[in-house]
Amino acid sequence: MVTMTPERWDSTSSYINVVLGDSDSDLDAMRARTKSEGLPDIAISSGVGHALTLLVRAALTRVALEVGTLGGYSAAWIARGLDRDGRLITIEREPAYAAFAARELAGLSLGPKIEVRQGDALAVLGGLEEELGAESLDFAFVDADKSQYLDYWRAIDPCLKPGAIFVADNALGTGSWWIDERVQVSRGKHLLRRKGGPSIPGEEPGRGREVANLSSCEEVTPPVE
Ligand SMILES: C[S@@+](CC[C@H](N)C(=O)[O-])C[C@H]1O[C@@H](n2cnc3c(N)ncnc32)[C@H](O)[C@@H]1O
Repeated sequence: MVTMTPERWDSTSSYINVVLGDSDSDLDAMRARTKSEGLPDIAISSGVGHALTLLVRAALTRVALEVGTLGGYSAAWIARGLDRDGRLITIEREPAYAAFAARELAGLSLGPKIEVRQGDALAVLGGLEEELGAESLDFAFVDADKSQYLDYWRAIDPCLKPGAIFVADNALGTGSWWIDERVQVSRGKHLLRRKGGPSIPGEEPGRGREVANLSSCEEVTPPVE
């Protein structure tokens, strides 16, 4: 098994940021306001933002979902990749963060495409299939309570179209923790475990979904970040 290390993490994140592009002045300003309003500075990097835009575009996304809005920074990157008639639903538990994000996103030209839903992720996700219909999502990004990722996956899975893209942050790790053997051993269990294929255990193969490293997740218990 190849493990993530601090050195590999630094190289990986620098590589992503160099290859995928610079930050963006509008979104930098949004991020700065997020900090000055006292929200935690734990949004994705601009490199990951570019990657999200690309993935959303690659999936020809008409309907996208995000779990974990914070101040709306990643939602803005996702919205940039949507089809002309596309829409994004983004879920945030903290009322103050959801209100901040709704205000900020409404100020962007893409604002009308984005709906911020305040509530607990699992409660909101519980009604999603009935609301949107089965196999209606082209793209999903989860970036909330890492201990609930498997539950998010189970709730979102019936809503994903065949070929949809599901992205789980931080599948590789972050600047402060890594999915490596030391962490796994110290916690006495595996955080994410690959079983060598892109299918979900128990699911029939060949539906063509991309499931970023969560594909074989048995237990996900990294720190919430
Ligand atoms: C890492 S931040 C999200 C950052 C954001 N995706 C970005 O990059 O701009 C995680 C967010 O998930 C929210 N969150 C945590 N648990 C949640 C839950 N059970 N339901 C909904 N939101 C939750 C937190 O309040 C926090 O705002």
